[in-house]
Amino acid sequence: DVEETLVLVKPDGVARNLTGEILRRIEAKGYSLVDIRMIEPDRALLAEHYAEHEGKPFYEPLVEFMLSGPVVALRVAGNRVIEGFRALAGTTDPTTAAPGTIRGDFGRDWGLAVQQNLVHGSDSPESAARELALWFSA
Ligand code: CMP
Repeated sequence: DVEETLVLVKPDGVARNLTGEILRRIEAKGYSLVDIRMIEPDRALLAEHYAEHEGKPFYEPLVEFMLSGPVVALRVAGNRVIEGFRALAGTTDPTTAAPGTIRGDFGRDWGLAVQQNLVHGSDSPESAARELALWFSA
């Protein structure tokens, strides 16, 4: 089925000038860019986006990290793009993410309190709908 997903280039990806490389990989895979925005999220937006992680030990460092600089939000479309982008991104921990993936090729452990792992991708159709509404409203 044709789906849409939310991809975020996180502050580390933007700061390291990897936005173009990440978008290149998405387009090279055959997915389509539908919308793009650079956003400086506030705490309220991040609290909604990361509601499921509230209370976890990495929650506060994660929010602080996401407040540390601009984020690029991408609305991306394609057949099975939700799982397809997560395959392009690689697993959460960039140290062990497979080479060939975005996180595996460009990420590592920087010794910080939170995984700086370059990108976010929605994990289900329900999350995608909720997150796209959040990041592309207003
Ligand atoms: P993401 O999957 O986009 O959304 C949750 C984020 O929390 C994840 O990326 C990482 O940046 C971070 N994260 C998840 N699990 C951990 C963990 N165990 N320790 C530190 N950070 C984490």
